[in-house]
Amino acid sequence: MHSHSKEDTAEKIHTLLEQLTHHFEEDGQDTATHLEGLLHSNYVKYWEYIRLDTLLTLQNPKTAFPDEMIFIVYHQITELYFKMVLHELNQLKEEVSATGDYFLKRMERVNWYFGQLISSFDLISVGLDQHQFLKFRAALTPASGFQSVQYRMVEIASTDLINLVHRDQRDHFDDYSTIEEMFEQLYWKKGAQDVQTGKKTLTLRQFEKEYTDTLIRLAYEYKSRNIWSVFKRLSFEEQSDERIRQSMKQLDQHVNINWPLMHYKYALGYLIKNKSIYGATGGTNWREYLPPRFQKLMFFPDLYSTEEIDLWGKNWVEKEVLSKIQASKQV
Ligand code: HEM
Repeated sequence: MHSHSKEDTAEKIHTLLEQLTHHFEEDGQDTATHLEGLLHSNYVKYWEYIRLDTLLTLQNPKTAFPDEMIFIVYHQITELYFKMVLHELNQLKEEVSATGDYFLKRMERVNWYFGQLISSFDLISVGLDQHQFLKFRAALTPASGFQSVQYRMVEIASTDLINLVHRDQRDHFDDYSTIEEMFEQLYWKKGAQDVQTGKKTLTLRQFEKEYTDTLIRLAYEYKSRNIWSVFKRLSFEEQSDERIRQSMKQLDQHVNINWPLMHYKYALGYLIKNKSIYGATGGTNWREYLPPRFQKLMFFPDLYSTEEIDLWGKNWVEKEVLSKIQASKQV
């Protein structure tokens, strides 16, 4: 057993007092007052620290269907994971002299978080009854996961903005194009057009009103500090390091294929019933917009061969998606 003698403890306290005095003097603070404060301060309690009471007040279903609670909680869980991802990407942005090791560590974390999100998506099918979903979704229109600003932030923090421009528009831009010009042509803006009229959906217009300024500011911040630009500033050896390149391909695969496909699988599963396809709450042409095969979105195109680019997301879509669409009709 490990035990301290009284002398050991006294000496330790003495040293700590010296250190504390030094520390407070540096800041022009009175040590005695701070120590006295300790006498009166409360112990940390788990529930206060984690803000449990507040956290548990944040789930407010809009209908009486019990499974709506699951729908809300799982979206919130996803948003908290996005928050952790952004936390790492922000550190990468701030660390001006990032080494290969530092870079890799952040990428490993981000990949792990996305891996968790991809494998946990099945929670939807366990906890969310389709019959209930098709009822309570009506109360949520025109809200949509499309309006997840953190999802857009992850994209902006990962790559140069041009890679997020709709692929039909990319040729219209060059090194002199401004962030504002490119921003207007981002792939998700093109996707969120009304199926009937071709105009911007209300879902998109509301999102733009709320977040355009924030996202443009973010795009400026990450302009030369996104994952790709940080990678380009690593040493030649580090840039050729397979572990680093793999970690980037993994992220690309996770964010631009695996997560979207899991999501799409459930969008299809929940919006198709008795061979009928339901419109989305966000009103997009979602069957064309969501599948990565059609979007061909990638953060790090320079890491791939032409063949890899050609095959981006292909197999999965043919197997899981096209067959189901062919077997269905629009309602
Ligand atoms: C029953 C489950 C779900 C269905 C049926 C569904 C359906 C859809 C549809 C149809 C869209 C296209 C936009 C629109 O027209 O509304 C969309 C977009 C989106 N949803 Fe979901 N969703 C589901 C679950 C989730 C969950 C759990 C999340 C996690 C936060 C999520 C996040 C997103 C995001 C980020 C987008 C935008 C994707 C992009 O722009 O590529 N969705 N969803």
